[in-house]
Amino acid sequence: MIKMSTEEFLILYKSALINKISLEQLANLMSGMKVKSLQKRRSELKRKNGVELKHLRSDTSELDSLKLTGLWDTYHKLSSDIIKGKHNTTINKNIYVITSAQNATPVNHKFLKSIKHYCDIRNAELLIIPFRYANPTSIWSLAAKDNDWWDNTISKHLLFNELILNNKLKILGNIKIRPTATNPLSGFDSYTGSYSGIFGHPKIQWSTVATPANILPKILSTTGCITIQNYTDSNVGWKGAFHHSFAAIIVEIESDEIFHLRHIHAGIDGSFYDLDKLYSSTTVTNNIRVEALIAGDSHSEFMDNDVLNATYLNNDSMSNVLKPKYLVFHDIQDFNSRNHHNIDNELFRYALHHNGNDNIEGELQKVANFLDNISTEFSINVLIKSNHDEAFDRWLEESYPKTDPENARFYYYMKYNLLKNIKLTETSYKTIDPFEFWCKHPDSQQGLKNIETTIFLQRDDSFIVKDIELAYHGDAGINGSRGSAKSLSKIGAKTIIGHAHSPNIYEGCYQVGLSCALNLGYVSGPSSWMHTHCIIYPDGKRTLINIMGNNWRL
Ligand SMILES: [Fe+2]
Repeated sequence: MIKMSTEEFLILYKSALINKISLEQLANLMSGMKVKSLQKRRSELKRKNGVELKHLRSDTSELDSLKLTGLWDTYHKLSSDIIKGKHNTTINKNIYVITSAQNATPVNHKFLKSIKHYCDIRNAELLIIPFRYANPTSIWSLAAKDNDWWDNTISKHLLFNELILNNKLKILGNIKIRPTATNPLSGFDSYTGSYSGIFGHPKIQWSTVATPANILPKILSTTGCITIQNYTDSNVGWKGAFHHSFAAIIVEIESDEIFHLRHIHAGIDGSFYDLDKLYSSTTVTNNIRVEALIAGDSHSEFMDNDVLNATYLNNDSMSNVLKPKYLVFHDIQDFNSRNHHNIDNELFRYALHHNGNDNIEGELQKVANFLDNISTEFSINVLIKSNHDEAFDRWLEESYPKTDPENARFYYYMKYNLLKNIKLTETSYKTIDPFEFWCKHPDSQQGLKNIETTIFLQRDDSFIVKDIELAYHGDAGINGSRGSAKSLSKIGAKTIIGHAHSPNIYEGCYQVGLSCALNLGYVSGPSSWMHTHCIIYPDGKRTLINIMGNNWRL
């Protein structure tokens, strides 16, 4: 048994009384504590704290497993009630660091020290969700058989109950998910009701649950873990160890309705990055630049104004604070004016035409203007070839200019240059990328000014930052199948993708949300779309970041 605080001893003693555990049996449970020492500690409680506890009966027989289980059930219930009371009194804090811990397992003390330093600096509260690994061949459990305990250095931070942080977010401290679970969030979609939920688990996972229109989708996320790897030498044990992350979630409560959350990940020395700062156990390093900011799908013709300002334009925007080396864009254009999805929609075409919105080169110029507006001297823009960009390519392949006088000249201009630049390859042919060519050589518009600081990726290109492949949009999967975070998590490389507009973390694959209006014309019904970006820190760790309200952080 670990060394116990006065509060923990009191709870354990009371639990022993309730379950009719003897003095000798309790002493034996406490790592063979002498009976006299146990009696002395009971007397100290009365003398120092005024708490008078009944005497435990005497019985030297071995404690049976039924009574032992009853003892720990009572202990956790009483602990839960006390901790609930504690957190009701400290709920006024608005910054939390939330992680999880395995029973009977030592803590990553370097990480813990850095987190405590962070909490001191930011006046944040550390909450740790306990979970159990019941497998009897677990390394540490074998050495400490029957010890249903958590490391003493974190005991006062353990959260055994559900804790509501605001009207939209709760922590599920009461749920103990098996640490080897492949999909720890599986089955919890409806469990949290209308709340987003944080679950304690060593594997980082994030899913977004659809809600009715105009209601913020629910986020379900796991925390990562602060205890060391402690898995069995088995199939599931090795898989669990592979996905074990020393990590936590930072939650910032902005109001009753708005919260910000993001992950932090421990480095080898226990330090971690949070936005533009690096925290160790004793120091804070400011003005950290992130490696890349991967924006939620842009569809820039329909850019959301709050997202535009919070991400790029405000003095304290993500771009201006984090100064990413690369700004990465998915679906930079929507190609709404002649997208194949609605090209046969007579009413839509009429509305576009009579509102002056069906000129393709005019739409491309809006995209270029967006890029010029958000470009900085410290970032390189990277455009990921995406399905909406390819709608332009497809229009050049499939359309009939004689039925589209508005865009006929532009069609022939682009077609001429496609043909002019065509080259045979060993197995096929290649020519210019239409959008890249137009940005450099517009017909009747201005094109893109920041051409020298913009990279145009093609479908089969690779763009790797800190061992993370960024060149996949996410629509194309393995061997021609449809793409998804789950399918792309299997390719053996870390990836960050877009396309689905619903943020997601599945093993090595992170998926961003979108940056434009949430009610694009082709979406209807319940939606899980969110304004969510991803950043890559200098150590290659990643986190998703939401724009909520009009902010990206507290
Ligand atoms: Fe998109």
